[in-house]
Amino acid sequence: MPDAAPALPARLAVIIPVFNEAANVAPLVARLEATLAGIPWEAVFVDDDSPDGTAAEIRRIAARDPRIRCLRRVGRRGLASACIEGFLSVAAPFVAVMDGDLQHDEAILPAMLAAVQDGADIAIGSRHVEGGSAASGFSAARFALSDAGARLARAMLPTPVADPMSGFFLLKRDMVEALAPRLTGRGFKILLDILLTAGRPLRVAEIPYGFRAREHGASKLDATVLLEFGGLLLDKASGGAVPLRFVAFAAVGGLGVVVHMLALGLLGGLLGLGFGAAQWGATFAAMTANFWLNNRITYRDARLSGAALWRGLVLFYLVCGIGAAANVGIATLLVEDGVLAWGLAGAAGALLTVVWNYAVSSTLVWRAR
Ligand code: GDD
Ligand code: MN
Repeated sequence: MPDAAPALPARLAVIIPVFNEAANVAPLVARLEATLAGIPWEAVFVDDDSPDGTAAEIRRIAARDPRIRCLRRVGRRGLASACIEGFLSVAAPFVAVMDGDLQHDEAILPAMLAAVQDGADIAIGSRHVEGGSAASGFSAARFALSDAGARLARAMLPTPVADPMSGFFLLKRDMVEALAPRLTGRGFKILLDILLTAGRPLRVAEIPYGFRAREHGASKLDATVLLEFGGLLLDKASGGAVPLRFVAFAAVGGLGVVVHMLALGLLGGLLGLGFGAAQWGATFAAMTANFWLNNRITYRDARLSGAALWRGLVLFYLVCGIGAAANVGIATLLVEDGVLAWGLAGAAGALLTVVWNYAVSSTLVWRAR
């Protein structure tokens, strides 16, 4: 362990997003220390309040080593936004992002720094240039997925990049500071976000490395992360005209209508309930599905869990109950007066509920930032 404060302010700040990586923190710090000898550096771990005690582990090391810091965020989740907040918390002229699970090879950091000092806009740790590899760190399915995503991303990029899906890169702090207000900050692909937001061809240096297998902990990549990837591309392709949260809203709303119609058919057709009762049941089913999906997807970054989840659900039911009553009332009237058939009246009522759900969701239930 080092015994004194560094003689020089950091030249390189390594930003390390972490979620449930307690066992990887100490080994990673030791590796950085070995590989960055001779470069004044610091490391900022950005932890989203991991339940496994990651933050305590970082602070245990930080208490003895002033180069190590812990930025703990509460009530938030997200790899990309963690990286952005890490960037904005440092003063070093060069910043890097690196995973906190030892899958990225820290040994290439000096070469990445040299590349940017020599004029590159960004240095990317790349699995897909001569000398790089990903085989050991990925399952076959994950590799195929990553490959498909990379093809899509490459098609949108103004600069050819072999590994646009990399989560390991280094650039000047000035550049991220300038781009920060326009980054979407959603999902996993912070590099892609930066490359697409820069809006001009960048001088890219790709440095090969072998993506290592994970030894401790588990990957956080899941189906929602993939959805967010699609959202990021859509957002950037539309020039930001379609905000990501709205896309998620619309998708969840669409699914809610499907749930509603299925439930209506089931309750009315199969169970033989009257229209009012069936529409109530269908509304309830759609409301529950919307709450669950919005919590998983639309408000992933402010996701409710534990007691807050139940409080949110009850609140959601309560406020939506007003909308639902109006919904059933109007739909029933439409049917009874013979204005619309069951299907159309049900859909009209459902639509009303979905719009109401949107408004309530973003303001009262999740309080999205
Ligand atoms: N703060 C924070 N918040 N950190 C997170 C979150 C989050 O919500 N989700 C993941 N992380 C951290 C993990 O703890 C890990 O240090 C790092 O981000 C990468 O997450 P993994 O879950 O290990 O992702 P992966 O190995 O499947 O994919 C990674 O490597 C690929 C290859 O470089 C990602 O970085 C991909 O973006 C990258 O393409
Ligand atoms: Mn990983």
